[in-house]
Amino acid sequence: MKSTNIQHTEHLVSPFDRCLKNGHRNGILWFTGLSGSGKTTLAFELERILFQKGWYTFVLDGDNMRHGLCADLGFSAADRAENMRRVGQVAKLFAESGCLVITAFISPYRKDREQIRILSGDLFHEVYIATPLEICEQRDPKGLYAKARCGEIESFTGISAPYEPPKAPDLRVETSQLSVEESLEQLIEYVVNNFTLTQ
Ligand code: ADX
Repeated sequence: MKSTNIQHTEHLVSPFDRCLKNGHRNGILWFTGLSGSGKTTLAFELERILFQKGWYTFVLDGDNMRHGLCADLGFSAADRAENMRRVGQVAKLFAESGCLVITAFISPYRKDREQIRILSGDLFHEVYIATPLEICEQRDPKGLYAKARCGEIESFTGISAPYEPPKAPDLRVETSQLSVEESLEQLIEYVVNNFTLTQ
C-alpha cells in the first residue's frame, strides 16, 4: 500500500435495499476456462437474457478489459495475477452496487481465483466452463491456438502456459456436450436458484 492517511466511508444505502430495488440478489458469476471454451459467448448471452428480464447485470470480459484498465499487462504469471487483482476489485465494486456481475477471464491460476473468493466472500460464485483443450483447439475462433502451436504466441494458456481447473466449482458447464442454448438454460437455472430474492 502506497496510499497513507486514507479513510474508508460507509455507504448510507444498505446492500439489502439495493437488492430490494433491483428485485434480485447481487454477486459475481466468475467464469473460468480455456480460451475458446465459450466464456465470452455464454457471458454476453446470459447478460442479454437477464437484462431483458429486468435484471441489473454486466459482463466484464478479458479481451475487453485488456483494451483499457489492463492494457499495460501481458500474459506472464505475474501480469495475470495483477489482471485478476484489478478485475476482481472491479467485479466486487459492481456487485456491491447491486449488480449480478458476469466475468469472462481465463483466470488460469487457482491461487488468483482464491484471492478473489477471499476478497468477495459470499458474493463469489465460481463457474467452470469445462471445455477440453482439444475442443477449444478445434474451435480456435480467434486463430490463436494455431499461432501458439507454431510459436508465434508465447505463454499461451493450455499450450505453453498452465491452466489449473477448479477443484470444486459452484457450477460446471460442459459446453462440449451441450448446445449454447442448453448451457444457457443451466446457467439461468443456477442464477434463479441463487440470486432470486427470498424474504
Ligand atoms: S487471463 O489469463 O489473464 O485471465 P484474459 O482472460 O484476461 O487472460 O485474456 C485472455 C484473452 O487474451 C484470450 O481470450 C485471448 O484472446 C488473448 N490472449 C492473447 N495472448 C494470450 C496468451 N498468451 N494466453 C492466453 N490468452 C491470450
